[in-house]
Amino acid sequence: MNHDRRFQTRKSSTSWRSPGMVGSAKYAKIYHTRCAHLALDTIWLYIHIIAPGKMTHRSASWLAAVFLGACGHSPNGAVNAPADTDLRAPEQFGSIVDRDERARALFVEASRVLVHPRCVNCHPSGDSPAQGDDGRVHDPPVSRGDDDRGVWAMRCTSCHQDTNLVLARVPGAPSWHLAPRPMAWVGHTPGAICEQMKDPARNGGKTLAAIVEHATHDPLVGWAWTPGSGRAAPPGSQERFGALIAAWANDGAACPQKETQP
Ligand code: HEC
Ligand code: HEC
Repeated sequence: MNHDRRFQTRKSSTSWRSPGMVGSAKYAKIYHTRCAHLALDTIWLYIHIIAPGKMTHRSASWLAAVFLGACGHSPNGAVNAPADTDLRAPEQFGSIVDRDERARALFVEASRVLVHPRCVNCHPSGDSPAQGDDGRVHDPPVSRGDDDRGVWAMRCTSCHQDTNLVLARVPGAPSWHLAPRPMAWVGHTPGAICEQMKDPARNGGKTLAAIVEHATHDPLVGWAWTPGSGRAAPPGSQERFGALIAAWANDGAACPQKETQP
């Protein structure tokens, strides 16, 4: 299973737009270079083929301005700052009359966040956190230990501080540690994650209200939207994700069918 994953990653990393590349500094460099080439080609085409002899000073500077604007923006900035509207708001589910059906639809929308790499990397079933968009094993090797905070000599917080360390690429948020094993989500469907989240035996004894509070305000959840170092963030915002979970709970917290995908 792990081998398959690694194989797929290697195959797809031949593309400069593969998930692992998007958001990296190298991606930004290739993006800007390709964009500039496209701009020069288009201007050449305009001068020589489309309107030979008609290129005025004004139209040349107009073209240049358009391309500067298009090529100059940071592609990584866009990756890091997803629009709130990438995740649908609870009100957009108002037309679903049946309460259970509405709750299920709300949860499926919220699960687009739950199954995002920024979240599942910290909700693994084994002893090691994962990292990156391909869920590879945490490097350096670390283990959850007895309290999900690392072993005695390698505590998570020896490296992970309260905020991201930009130069060292170490992500950070207060009290950085792994979700306990019963909260493992890797490879689970939204329906299975939903059942786990509602079950006090597997969710750390939380009531639905505590789950809503956690989703809306927990700093480890919130970190996913400011992950630093060019990492991609989940869709929407923590506020909108929290609102979806709150609406799901209000509507009776029905879970999607086991096989439903996000
Ligand atoms: C020796 C230092 C060190 C220790 C100890 C450590 N980490 Fe990390 N961790 C890192 C570094 C460095 C990265 C970033 C790797 C990269 O992206 O290049 C990282 C990345 C991660 C990520 C990936 C974020 C993402 O989505 O890509 C998670 C999750 C994580 N660590 C969890 C933990 C947990 C939980 C512990 C304790 C059990 C822990 N780490 C202990 C150094 C450490
Ligand atoms: C740095 C590690 C880390 C990251 C990143 C992280 N979590 Fe967690 N998560 C935890 C820990 C630890 C707990 C247990 C907290 C507790 O019981 O008080 C937890 C518990 C939860 C719970 C509550 C109980 C349950 O049944 O799972 C929810 C919901 C949750 N996380 C959602 C998310 C979402 C959504 C994201 C991404 C947007 C996320 N988490 C990212 C570490 C993390």
